[in-house]
Amino acid sequence: ETETPRAADLLEWYDRNARIMPWRVPPAARRAGTAPDPYRVWLSEVMLQQTTVAAVTAYFNRFTARWPGVADLAAAEDGDVMGEWAGLGYYARARNLLKCARAVVAEHGGTFPADHDALLKLPGIGPYTAAAISAIAFDLPRTVVDGNVERVMARLHDIHTPLPAAKPELTAAAAALTPERRAGDYAQAVMDLGATICTPRTPACGICPWRAPCAARARGTAAELPKKTPK
Ligand code: ADE
Repeated sequence: ETETPRAADLLEWYDRNARIMPWRVPPAARRAGTAPDPYRVWLSEVMLQQTTVAAVTAYFNRFTARWPGVADLAAAEDGDVMGEWAGLGYYARARNLLKCARAVVAEHGGTFPADHDALLKLPGIGPYTAAAISAIAFDLPRTVVDGNVERVMARLHDIHTPLPAAKPELTAAAAALTPERRAGDYAQAVMDLGATICTPRTPACGICPWRAPCAARARGTAAELPKKTPK
């Protein structure tokens, strides 16, 4: 029998191991009261859909150098934005990006709303992005579930139900662990754990902050999870 995982153990690991990204506020600064810029959180989360951190970083830096705030982006020419997006793919994301920037200016006075349901009504912001902005930009206790989070939860609880059928169960497991405080750091900590330790092929269980409560580690099944329904 394994004990229940604690968010605090993951957060303590994140305090020491958070990856540096241009849209992030490092955990020490976040704890000292520096809040992330919701515009930068939103832009990064849209870019990171279907694109890796490594590929996104240069695009993110060029976008924010050229358009430092949401009002700057809202005032941009469509063709200039599509030109800066070229190479990132999924061009509907870029068209929705502009629509969203213009809606934030027209409907919210140029400030992203600190409200999950208001975020969800904006163009191009679906459940994933609304949860990510709520948690990361505003520290609202929302649960962010991406592929990394699904893998970590499948292993922690040794869930063998294949994806996509397992999604509700994995989402519930992630929600149960989401802390009331530091929801943004927690969301990014699970992503970093999945990207650096709880990796798809050869997880580094020996140095995982959740090795003690991990059911898959106890049973030796980590590397085979999550299961996927064959296409
Ligand atoms: N993927 C999507 N959002 C991310 C974030 N904030 N940090 C790391 N990887 C991510």
